[in-house]
This record gives sequence, structure tokens and C-alpha cells, in this order.
Amino acid sequence: MESVLDERERTGVPDAILLEDYLSEKVFIDNLKKRYKENLIYTYIGQVVVSVNPYKDLGIYTENHLEKYRNVNFYEVPPHVFAITENAYKAMIAEVADHCILISGESGAGKTEASKQVLRFLAATSLHRREMDRVRDRLLQSNPLLEAFGNAKTNRNDNSSRFGKYMDIEFNFKGDPVGGHILNYLLEKSRVVHQEIGERNFHVFYQLLAGAPSHLLEKLHLERNADSYFYLKQGKSGHVDSISDSGDFEAVQHALATLNFTDEEKESIWGILGAILHLGNVSFKGDDDGLAKVVDETHVNYCSKLLGCESQELLNALTHRTIEARGDVVTSPLHPEQAVYARDALAKSVYERVFDWLVERINQTLHNTEAGRKTLLGILDIYGFEIFDRNGFEQFCINYCNEKLQQVFIELTLRSEQDEYRREGIEWEQVEYFDNKIICDLVEEKHKGIISLLDEECLRPGEATDATFLAKMNSHLAKHKHYFSYDTSVNNKVKKTINKDEFRLRHYAGDVAYRVQGFLDKNNDLLFRDLKEVMTHTSNLILTAVFPKEELGRKKRPDTAATQFKNSLGGLMNILMNKEPSYIRCIKPNDEKRSYHFNEERVSHQVKYLGLMENLRVRRAGFAYRRQYEVFLHRYKSLCPATWPSYKGQAKDGVHSIVKHLKYSPEDYRMGRSKLFIRLPRTLFKTEDALQARKAELATKIKAKWKAFVYQRRYQKMRAAVTVLTKHWRRIAAKKVLARRKWAAGVIRAFVKGFITRNQAVNSTNARFQQLVKCEYLVRLSKALPQHVLNRKWPQPPSSCKEASKVLWDLHRTYLARKYVRALPPEKRVMFEEKVLAEQLFRGQKASYPLVLPKWFVASRLDPASESLMKTAFEGIIKTSGEKTKYSVPCTKYDRHGYKPRERLLVLTTGALYLLEAKENKLKQKHRLSLKEIQGIHVSPNNDNLILIQIPPENAKKDKGDLIINVPNVIEAVTKLVSVSDNTEMLKIAATDSIGHTMKNGKQGTIVLNSGASVTTINKNKEGKLLVLFASYWMMVCLERTMLDAAELVGRDQAAIDVAW
Ligand SMILES: Nc1ncnc2c1ncn2[C@@H]1O[C@H](COP(=O)(O)OP(=O)(O)O)[C@@H](O)[C@H]1O
Ligand SMILES: [Mg+2]
Repeated sequence: MESVLDERERTGVPDAILLEDYLSEKVFIDNLKKRYKENLIYTYIGQVVVSVNPYKDLGIYTENHLEKYRNVNFYEVPPHVFAITENAYKAMIAEVADHCILISGESGAGKTEASKQVLRFLAATSLHRREMDRVRDRLLQSNPLLEAFGNAKTNRNDNSSRFGKYMDIEFNFKGDPVGGHILNYLLEKSRVVHQEIGERNFHVFYQLLAGAPSHLLEKLHLERNADSYFYLKQGKSGHVDSISDSGDFEAVQHALATLNFTDEEKESIWGILGAILHLGNVSFKGDDDGLAKVVDETHVNYCSKLLGCESQELLNALTHRTIEARGDVVTSPLHPEQAVYARDALAKSVYERVFDWLVERINQTLHNTEAGRKTLLGILDIYGFEIFDRNGFEQFCINYCNEKLQQVFIELTLRSEQDEYRREGIEWEQVEYFDNKIICDLVEEKHKGIISLLDEECLRPGEATDATFLAKMNSHLAKHKHYFSYDTSVNNKVKKTINKDEFRLRHYAGDVAYRVQGFLDKNNDLLFRDLKEVMTHTSNLILTAVFPKEELGRKKRPDTAATQFKNSLGGLMNILMNKEPSYIRCIKPNDEKRSYHFNEERVSHQVKYLGLMENLRVRRAGFAYRRQYEVFLHRYKSLCPATWPSYKGQAKDGVHSIVKHLKYSPEDYRMGRSKLFIRLPRTLFKTEDALQARKAELATKIKAKWKAFVYQRRYQKMRAAVTVLTKHWRRIAAKKVLARRKWAAGVIRAFVKGFITRNQAVNSTNARFQQLVKCEYLVRLSKALPQHVLNRKWPQPPSSCKEASKVLWDLHRTYLARKYVRALPPEKRVMFEEKVLAEQLFRGQKASYPLVLPKWFVASRLDPASESLMKTAFEGIIKTSGEKTKYSVPCTKYDRHGYKPRERLLVLTTGALYLLEAKENKLKQKHRLSLKEIQGIHVSPNNDNLILIQIPPENAKKDKGDLIINVPNVIEAVTKLVSVSDNTEMLKIAATDSIGHTMKNGKQGTIVLNSGASVTTINKNKEGKLLVLFASYWMMVCLERTMLDAAELVGRDQAAIDVAW
């Protein structure tokens, strides 16, 4: 409610206690009107809801609304029947106390609609469990069924309830509806037989004719046309635009099914309704003696058939009356009017009892047998105060009922108000209000009240009539302040306004004049014994139940209608007084059923008789507004720095701080025990205005905070998400590592096993290891492959690769060699060929071979002087033309005779071997040996440089025998010689320690080879042999080393050393 306070200018105040001028009815009605025009049909007076009938669907009872009003604070939402229902429901559950919602208002004000919505709201509280759904459906379905039988079109309301209804809904401790019970009050049964113009009988008859399938109608011998039946056509308004009878018949069928009515029961119901319609069409005429005779017996026959009784019996009972007086039984025929009376009495009685049976039957279905604590929430939808132009017995009862309800209302409202002040310790100002107890007493007081007088008149022997009843009242009640009649009025003015057959009561809601006509009959409610008897032995299921045979034997007269009503009202009052009440006060804004039409006069009248102004006064007597400290603090805490944003102390202290801060004057408020009381609405409005201003200010702050909060939350969510992601990622990563480690361990294990078994033949355990080793070796090898042919380094192969290594080695060597060779220039190639030849010739054959291995062969070993001499003398003169010089070297030639050494130059050409003597800068050919003539070349296997060149024997004489020469580099010289001769066969390496040679004249000489010298020497020994003493290989090496070092010291180059050799 507080939430709409700020709109009060346009829409009025949602609670009338906030009206400044609460005493003015005009202000109150203006407020209702303002709201009504804005489609706000509900207004509170404290906890009473005033509802103004909108006469149109405002869309305010949707599922959304049901939701919106659930679990909310009464004052936090706009006024609504749902709000008050929720409030009552919550209180019922919380306090474990029975509650009731009293709905009152005149016919057509919207009571039944309100009660339906209340029931809907309560039924929907259940959780949607199957069992609960069943109960809920039954509770809801009881409505259309009872409306069909108990509602009718009147001139005020197309769907007017013609009975009072109180329904208890049972809730279990969880708050689920588990059952229900209905009490019905005073059905307007006269409607069954008579309707005013413009009105109809109860809906169910029209529904049956319009909606029943043809076979059912045939079975009931009924026609569809309602005008065919006397009981339906008197009001001349069989069809009503706002009602769909056939549709409603469907709804009734559905309700019967939901409420578990058996086929037999349904059949009985339709049979009784058909019988009543036929009964209405039974007419009587007077015979010759003026006694009643049925005009056409067809309808009696149908009727008896449908009720299951003897036709003749029924016929008799309709036209006769049996009276038992002091043991005598007298049967007398009836006059036609009496017969009509008897017929109508039967129709009314049957209908009334069937209605009661229906209620009872529904109650059985709603009955809950579960054990356990239950609380009740009652809904009372009962006829409102009625003032017609002609008011009869029914209006008397209805208005009496309203007097009683008003009493409950005053009693409970005042009491609760007083209780509240007492509870809260606030001083209470007595409010003047009209206590209608005096009127209730006028009607119901024992022996003195109108009902007692009426009963007396009904029961007394003799001719009692309505007139005698009026006279009796006049004599007994003449002095009563609230009773007026023509005879008792002393005031002529008043007298003129009252008819002679009327009495007038001054009700709390206004004066009502009642016509006494029919009072006695209706109170007696007489059904002649004969008819009752027929009804007790029908075959109709329901009739047998509602007309028990025992009833016939009962001696005691049943209570009169008024007394029964009084008693049932007494019961109702007891029920209500023991419950916490909530009120819905319905107001009818106009008589034309028009929406948006607010007839202030009509409303004013209702406001008066509903006692709303009194209600408001009582409510406002002390303080206009009260709220629990917690609620007030919660709403207004932002207005005081001490309580904003939150207050830690007691709510009461917080509220005290607020009122102090807002500078309430001490007269304006009181602090109760649990509530703050504010005397004037003005004070509340000021507070509310301040709140609105503060809200705008706070909104900005809250927005900023909210944004920060939202972003923070988003950030936290993201962070949490990141943590989750990281966690998962880590798990995955760890799993991967684990898998990898496992794999690695496997690999290592396999590797180790492979290693351990590496020397076994390849098998499944070591195959991979072997492969790895091979791979690894190949990789290693590929990186360490020697790049040069002279580099002989080669990685040590594992045992499994030895063979491969060998093959590779060979391949690589070949490759390097090829590469090397291919890269060689031609002259170098020649040099190599010579070296290769030398190897062929000398390797392993001559001890000095290793010594010359690393040295290149040269074309000339002559010193520069000899060299230039060569160029001039030899090349120009000596050399045989066409030859090419291949090699020249200084040498020592040993004579063949005497072995005298002679220094010579040895020159090799492509054609011959020359020995030249260089003397005094001249060259002289001493010897020329054609290469073809050379028979063989002998060298020793030792370290010496001696060469023996065999010449052909025929030349021995001319050439003085074989040539014995010592050259500095024997291997070089011999290789050149063999190379140029192109005959490797000519070289002979001596196998023994001597070499024989041919000397001049064919003599044989011997060259003795001997070891033991530190330096090789060649001399003639004592035996005349040439002795070659050669040094050991190592001596030669050392010597060469020493010479090299010496050469280095003196700065001589290699060539010089070679020459020195
Ligand atoms: N809250 C409402 N919203 C819309 N129409 C309503 C409302 N209350 C009553 N009416 C209309 O007024 C008619 C009479 O209402 P009803 O509840 O039968 O009156 P009552 O029971 O007081 O005699 C309904 O048939 C309906 O057309
Ligand atoms: Mg109603």
C-alpha cells in the first residue's frame, strides 16, 4: 500500500484511514469514486476491504495476480481481495488459529464473485501434488454446482445467490487445503413456484432444458422450451443474454463428475427436477362441489413416474388432506386453491430438501479424514441487506441475518481495535457507535421478539392469520423504538407512510416495511401429511434419503422456518465469533449493472448500512496509521542518518530516532509496545513525501553500488570460472605428464632391458635397443665423418655395427679418394700416380719406404747451378731429340771395377737414362742407357739408396757392366724410372744380403748388404766387394729428425735437406 501512497492525488488513498477528513462521508465516497474511475475497485479501511463492483472484467484475477499476492506483505501491494486472503491465510498458519472472511453487501454487489476469487486463491496455495489437485478441484467445482441449484436471475443480479453460504476450508499443518465443509442458509424456495416479472427460477431448470441431450429430455418427458412450464415462465424472461444455459449445463455435468456423483445419483437429480416441472403444470379445477380435480393427469403420471411413486397415490395426496387430531384421523378433500397450495408446498419442499442433500453430498466428498492438526479458513457469502418495494418473510429473515452480522462486525472490529490499543499500551478513546443489539433483540428475543410472536401465532389453536399476527406484534411491540406500524403510530406523518398490513422496522441500515401477508404460511412451512407420506416411499434414491419414514411418526412439531433460521444463524454466529474475521464489504455502484457508473446516492446508502463510516471512525478514533516498528523502520530508515543504511539496535529505538529526526510533534504519534501509531494522515504523508525525495537521491547511489556489485559479481564468477578451468587444465596437464612419465619409464625400462641383452641375438627385448644403437651410431658417424682423405679418424662402432662400419668405411674412403682425386690438378695427379706406383713397388719391400711416404716426388733434385746447366747443355745438346726430361738428380756412381765413387747427374728422359758429369760448368755425357735396354733394376730391401741397373749382357763390354748408383732418394728415382719405362716387372728387390752384378768383361761382382751402421755407408770392403752398411729404419728416422731440426736452426728449407740426403 505504501508503494502507491505517492499516487494519491490521482487515484485517491488506498486506505480510507489516511483520509484527512475521515468523518465526512462525502470525502470517503469521493475517494471511492476517484479510485473506481481509475479501475481501482478495492479500498481498505484498515484491514477491511471495500469492493466496488466494476461490472466488467478488469483482468485483475489472472495467474500473475495470484502469484503477485502470494507471500507478500499486506501493505506492500495495492489493495486486493487476494491481499486480504493471503493475510488471513498467513495469520491462520502462523497463529494456528481459525480465520474467516466475511463477505457482505447487497444483492449484485459482487459478494459471490469475491468469494470465488478468495476460494481460487486459497485453492491455489496448494503445492501441485496430485492429492492436492483433487481437493482443489473439488473445492472449486462445488461452486458451479451450488450456483446452478441455488442461484437465479433476479432483477438486480443475473446470477443472484438465493441462499446463504458459509464454507470452511481445512488446511493441514503445512498449509495445504485438504478438505472443506459447506453450511447453507435459508434457500429462497418460494422461487421454485413463483417468480416476479423479469426474474427466473433457479438456473438448473433452464440448464437442464437447454443443455440436456435429447434422450435425457425424452426420458424425463420434457420439452426444450422453458415456456412450456408454469414454474419457469412466470417471470417472462426465460432467456438471459449474459447466461449460456447449455454451456452451464456442461459445467454442472463436469462438476458432478469431479465431485464423484454416481450415475444413479445424477439420474435421481434429473428425475426430481423433471418431476417438479411436471408438478407445476398440474392444474386444478373445482368440481360440482367446488372440490379440487386435476385437469389433466398426464403431468401427474409423469411426475409419479419420475419420482417413483404410485400415480393414483400422488393424485389423491394432491387433492386431499388428512389431519390427525387427538387420535382421530380425518381425511378431507381440498378446494382447488388449497390443492395449488399443496402442490407448490410439495415442489418447494422437495427442491429445498434436494438442495440440502446436495450440500451434504458435496460435504461428504470434501470431507477429510486425515488425522492431525487442521486449521480452518471460512468464507461467508451471504445475502446482503434488502429493501424492496414489497418486503416479505424472506426479506425479514435476510435483514435479520444482516443485523446479526453487523453485530459480529461491530463486536469483532471494536474488540480487536480495543485489544490492539490495550496490547500496545496506548490510551483508548471510547468511540460512539450504534449498537444494533436492540434490533436483534426486537427480532429474536425469547417470548418477546417478533419470531417468538410469530411462532406463537402459528402454533396457537384457532384462526390465526397474518392479520392477527400483526395485531399481536402491535400490542406487544408498540413501544419499541425500532418498531412501527399503522396502528401503533401516533405521529400522523409516519402513519401515512405505512400500509395497514405492514410493520416497519428501523434497522441499523435503514427503515424497512414488511408486509405480513404470507408470514404465517412461510413460517409454518407446511407440507400436508398425505404428500409427505407419498414422498417417503418413492423409489427415487434422493427422495428416500431426504424424506425418511421416521419423520411421519414424529409427534413433535418441527421448528418453524423462522426459528430454524434463528437457530442456524445462532450457530453461524458462534462459528464466526470463534474465528479471526477479515471483511470484504461489497458495494454496488448502480442498479443498471453498468461499468464506470458511480451513483453516489446508491453508494451512500450502502456505505451507511454497511456501517463503513463507523468502521472508519472506530479505526481512526485513536490513530490513523500504525505499523510494526520493523516495517516502519524498514521503509523509512533512509530518512535518518542514524538508521541508514542499517540499524543494529532494537527496531523501536530506530523508529524513535526517525521520528525525532523528522521532528514529529509529541502529539502526532505514540510508541506502542510493537507498533508506532501516527495520529494524523498528514504526518504520514509528509514522511512519505520526504521518502520519495530521498528515493531519487538514493536511486543514483544505489545504481552506482549496484553496478559495482554486478561487476564485482561478474568478476568473481569469472575468477571462479578461471579457477575451475585452471583446475581442470592442471588435471589434464598432470595426466599428460603422468602418461608421458609412464611412457618414458616404459621406454627407459625397454632401453635398459635392451642394453642388458644387447649382446644376445636380436630378439623382441633388444631389437629396439639395437635399432637405437644403430641409429645413434649412424647419426654420430654422420656428424663425425672425416672430411679429408688423410683424416682416418672413424668413430668406434658398437659391436652390432662393426660390419656396417667396415662397409661404410670403405665406401667413405672410396668416396673421399674419388673426391680427392677428382679435385686434383693434372700435374698433381701424375705425382700421385707415381706415389701409387711407388707403393706398389716398395711397400713392405724396402725398409726406407715409410720414410719417403709422406714426401712428394719431384722432377729435379739438382741445385740451381746444375739446373741451369741442365737447361742449356743437356736440353740443348746432349738429349736425344724427341725425348722429354722426366727426372734429374745428383747421384754417386760406383765404378764396376774397384767401386770407385763418381759424382754424376742422373737424368731420366722418356727414352733413356743419362749419367752426366758436371765439371767446370760444363756437362759431359758419361753414359746413356736406352730405357729399352734396361734388363732390370735391383735395390736392396734395406735403408740404403743403392740402385743396380742391369744392362743387357751384350752391352756389358761397351757399358762396363751393370750401373751401380747411389741416389739421394732411391724410391723416387726407381719409381720414376719404372714409370717412364712402363714396366713394373723390371724392379727386383734383393731377398738376400747380397746382390750380384755383371761387371765389365762379364765378370760377376757382389754387393754385400749389411746392417749396423748409424748412417748408411757404401764402401769397398776388404774382399773387394761393395759393402753397403745400412742404418736401421729408426736410425734413419732419428737422423732425418735431427737434420730437420738442424735445418730449422740454420734456416734451410726442406728441399735443401733433401738435397743433403
Ligand atoms: N470483481 C468483479 N469483477 C467483475 N465483475 C464483477 C465483479 N464482482 C461482481 N461482478 C459482476 O457483478 C455480477 C454480480 O456479482 P455477484 O457476485 O453475483 O453479486 P452478489 O453475490 O453480491 O449478489 C456478477 O455476475 C459479475 O457480472
Ligand atoms: Mg451472490
